[in-house]
Amino acid sequence: MKVVILPGDGIGPEVCETAVTVLRAACASSNIALDTEEHAFGGAAIDQYGDPLPPATLEACLGADAVLLGAVGGPRYDEAAKKGAPRPEAGLLALRREMGLFANLRPSRLFEGLEEASPLRKSVVADTDILVVRELTGGLYFGEREEGSDRALDRLPYSREEVERVARTAFEAARGRKGLLTSVDKANVLATSRLWRGVVEDVHKSYPDVRLEHVLVDAMAMHLVTHPSRFDVVVTENLFGDILSDELSAVVGSIGLAPSASLGEAGKPGLYEPIHGSAPDIAGLGIANPIGAILSAAMLLRHSAGEETAAASIEAAVAWCLADGLRTHDLGGSASTKDALDAVLSAL
Ligand code: NAD
Ligand code: IPM
Ligand code: MN
Repeated sequence: MKVVILPGDGIGPEVCETAVTVLRAACASSNIALDTEEHAFGGAAIDQYGDPLPPATLEACLGADAVLLGAVGGPRYDEAAKKGAPRPEAGLLALRREMGLFANLRPSRLFEGLEEASPLRKSVVADTDILVVRELTGGLYFGEREEGSDRALDRLPYSREEVERVARTAFEAARGRKGLLTSVDKANVLATSRLWRGVVEDVHKSYPDVRLEHVLVDAMAMHLVTHPSRFDVVVTENLFGDILSDELSAVVGSIGLAPSASLGEAGKPGLYEPIHGSAPDIAGLGIANPIGAILSAAMLLRHSAGEETAAASIEAAVAWCLADGLRTHDLGGSASTKDALDAVLSAL
């Protein structure tokens, strides 16, 4: 299996290196031949090549079985962008589009022992286990844009095909879980949301065994903190999915725990990354929580290598460590990134 590693910026390299070490260990014990190749990406690639997604990086990603990414961005690049420099985030969007990654799977479940890490009461957060399926290559992120200091514009386009394919991914996922799909939109205001709702209902005809409900996004933001355990799979457009998945990650303890898989057509390489960013406030301190990145490596084994046993072994090791009291600073503890790595490796 050929995996391209994109460490990126801030805590990206710290959590990515940790995840690669766990991935290597899991592959070694399951006899999976793993070949890794690191490439410049994001701010680091701007520093080196003036381009957040250099052609050699893109070519390597397109030719790999999977890509494992840390995070990109940071204040230094935000400043430079004001003077016309490219943005690290633009490299990430271009990579998602070039790889055709329309479905972003973002699971959040409450791990045993983490009830106290949630800002919610134990009785509210108990049994929360949600898979957000975020549409990833459409909507506001990729619509026509006009920059300006007096007027600016971001268009929000969606086509039937774009909604259909991500809806199918979500229905399939719900079928393999508790059988409930919540589609989140703003159909009381947005034309694209009315299209979204209609197409999701059409796709539902092929999945009569899955229960479908529609919830408006503002109410959904509320339900996620009042009754998170009543949801199963949630499908939504790009920006709503970005926002709701960060909210949900905090509900079950910390954004540092949340992994993701970005998938396109079957047989094409997937991209795996924690949902958090480069965390400039803690970069270089060695205290970043690497679990979101480690669980992303597990998703890589499941979705891009078909290695369910190896994937589940990483997830079980993480669950065991958390139940055993492993707490990085975001979870109110004092374990370092290295402590977390050592704990997961020994549990594995
Ligand atoms: P962020 O996710 O980087 O950080 C938000 C807060 O969560 C910070 O307090 C940070 O310390 C904490 N945090 C995040 N990950 C953590 C971890 N693994 N362990 C412990 N604490 C963690 O979001 P932000 O501050 O809004 O963005 C910072 C930069 O990251 C921006 O440039 C943004 O564009 C970029 N970003 C990149 C990605 C990506 O590469 N996929 C995702 C989100 C944000
Ligand atoms: C994420 C990030 C990105 C997004 C940014 C950095 C472009 O927030 O991966 O969630 O909005 O998709
Ligand atoms: Mn985000």
